[in-house]
Amino acid sequence: MPDILVRGGTVVTDTGRRRADVLCRDGRIAALDEGLEPGGDTAVIEAGGCLVMPGGVDPHTHMQLPMMDTVVADDFFTGTAAAAAGGTTTIIDFVGPDRGQSPLDALAVWQERAAKVVIDYSFHMTVSWWGERFATEMETLVREHGLTSFKFFLAYKNRLMLPDEDLIAGFARCRELGALPLVHAEHGDLIVYLQNKMQSEGVTGPRAHVLSRPPQCEAEATLRAVTMAELVDLPLYVVHVSAAGAAEAIAAARARGAKIIGETLPGFLAIDESVYSDPDFDIAAGHVMSPPFRPREYQDVLWQALRDGVLSTTGTDHCCFTRAQKRLGEHDFTKIPNGCGSVEDRLHVLWQLGVNSGRLTPEHFVALTSTNAAKAFNLWPRKGSLDIGADADLIVLDPQRHKRLSAATQHQNTDFSVWEGFESTGAVVHTLARGRHVFADGDLRAERGSGCYLPRQPFGPAYQGVM
Ligand code: URP
Ligand code: ZN
Ligand code: ZN
Repeated sequence: MPDILVRGGTVVTDTGRRRADVLCRDGRIAALDEGLEPGGDTAVIEAGGCLVMPGGVDPHTHMQLPMMDTVVADDFFTGTAAAAAGGTTTIIDFVGPDRGQSPLDALAVWQERAAKVVIDYSFHMTVSWWGERFATEMETLVREHGLTSFKFFLAYKNRLMLPDEDLIAGFARCRELGALPLVHAEHGDLIVYLQNKMQSEGVTGPRAHVLSRPPQCEAEATLRAVTMAELVDLPLYVVHVSAAGAAEAIAAARARGAKIIGETLPGFLAIDESVYSDPDFDIAAGHVMSPPFRPREYQDVLWQALRDGVLSTTGTDHCCFTRAQKRLGEHDFTKIPNGCGSVEDRLHVLWQLGVNSGRLTPEHFVALTSTNAAKAFNLWPRKGSLDIGADADLIVLDPQRHKRLSAATQHQNTDFSVWEGFESTGAVVHTLARGRHVFADGDLRAERGSGCYLPRQPFGPAYQGVM
């Protein structure tokens, strides 16, 4: 692999910015200083007028996930290629064992699927059932495979939802192993009640999706999960926070000293629930995900929570389907596959709505798109940093370049985008993934299988309460 010198840019990390050139050698940052000279066969990327920042770390994706009689449209190749085109250089995806399936066997299946990744990746595991075998194999996952985070569902009854006693037992097991639990916090039983009510009233379209998943369901489940984590005495990562009440529960727990880390999604900062009333089924169904998009006024609450540090990461929950796949639920909203894409879009949305609007500094942008997730999942400083010795995962962002997001031009493997027509002043023009120039001014040079698995150590920074 040739050396690459990124020359003349302003390096921005979560802690500050300065003029510096960046030399990438053997996949790592080898030097960071002004006036670095390229060697004979060093490739040079001119970054004058641009910002050089750590590549995005997306802690929440679902590539190639089987769901509701179909499979997510992006596989590990198309999804990670799209990520690279949007400036993300690391994903953490979810292994999902079938009910009763050995978690270790499920990991082997997912590793095979992930063999075609373009960027580096790590895995969380969904605790899709609970029992002695699961608890036992967790130890092997943590100690031998570096899989150190486990996701628990309080929703999706009869599929993934666990009763409280299993949640508590699972959290306690995580604590023994130094693993970090994640929660999808919505009240599964109440949602089933409300779904049945919608159906009995003849409300069967996408609007029923949001009506059956009100914010109270998220607020209650978040408070419950946070309370369990506090009393079991371990850190907790709350994924896809969308409701004001959920952010409030996290803020209150953090104020008491609980080690709660909150994640939100770009969509929750920008898109509101009116999308479910769109008369075009494809558009309304294209936005069906859980939790759903919320009332517009919640967006200010979430921005404030990001500014206050109550929420400290952004993921995408990238889980995209085509219009045809969404039509599986044309006559019954409960059959619309849940999920939307964004892995390619996250940095541009956060740049435009965060930095260009004055809500975030560029440093905070780096923290929210990269460094904080790397810390939460114990990948820092290898990821999420531009320190010498860190992996050469970086982006060059041209703050003057215009970018328009659209299904017609995206690399995500679907014919729909929740970001259709979104415009950003400021665009990722180069992406380096462990020193490979994977995105070069519009040219995506995705190489199958060039990413690698990132094992992680238990008892990471989340346990120290540093976030
Ligand atoms: O609707 C969503 N979010 N689909 C992906 C699975 C999950 O709940 O995270
Ligand atoms: Zn979820
Ligand atoms: Zn998810």
